[in-house]
Amino acid sequence: MHSIVPGHVAIIMDGNGRWAKKRFLPRIAGHKRGVDMVRKVVKASADRGIKFLTLFAFSSENWRRPAEEVGLLMELFCYVLEHEIKRLQTMQVRVKIIGDMSRFDVRLKHLIKQIQDVTAENQGLTLTIAANYGGRWDMLQAFERMLTDQPDLAGRVITEQHFSPYLSMNYAPEPDLFVRTGGEQRISNFLLWQLAYTELYFTPCLWPDFDEGALDLAITSFQQRERRYGRTSDQLT
Ligand code: IPE
Ligand code: IPE
Ligand code: MG
Repeated sequence: MHSIVPGHVAIIMDGNGRWAKKRFLPRIAGHKRGVDMVRKVVKASADRGIKFLTLFAFSSENWRRPAEEVGLLMELFCYVLEHEIKRLQTMQVRVKIIGDMSRFDVRLKHLIKQIQDVTAENQGLTLTIAANYGGRWDMLQAFERMLTDQPDLAGRVITEQHFSPYLSMNYAPEPDLFVRTGGEQRISNFLLWQLAYTELYFTPCLWPDFDEGALDLAITSFQQRERRYGRTSDQLT
């Protein structure tokens, strides 16, 4: 057991729909409650000295949901980007959005640009929201951009150092701790490249119930892990 706080925590916020269903509420009520928890977890993460927090808000596969739910999620996303900016500024949070923005409407694109521009110089927590994000998309767009930038690389030995700067989260170290709420034990096309050596933590706790205490349980679990990166335990001491 050590007391190091994970520098980068990445979370799949799952279970909003089930949280609502248990209460006989529409799914969107769960998503709204989920936003309250985002606010809470951002604050708690900053308080605990976490430097990077990455949240999966909408996957490239979530377009497959009923149009009504997708529409309401987009509206909610716009509302949050517009109304949380002040609070995030006060907390010195730097906001980044990753994902394929091309499918978003102009208003959402504008709000995304605005929140990133306004908070760009903030020195506190870096909050990354993954929206219309997919790990496979990220790797493919990175590959494409790398080869466009450096066509001479085709046919040569390509290293991680060539490739990783083109991933959309190139400004952050790889996640130390991955959390998935909602009980499923899968990655669902979240950060595929970057999770190679991340400690994984799965909890049945539904995202709208994931409070500071639940975050602390995840951090405590992380602190009990020995990260060996292929070495033996003896080599670490
Ligand atoms: C996660 O909660 C939020 C999004 C994917 C947008 P879900 O909506 O997937 O909730 P469940 O899994 O149906 O409970
Ligand atoms: C993963 O949750 C995506 C987000 C939380 C944004 P899903 O609920 O979409 O994942 P699956 O479909 O159960 O794998
Ligand atoms: Mg789900």
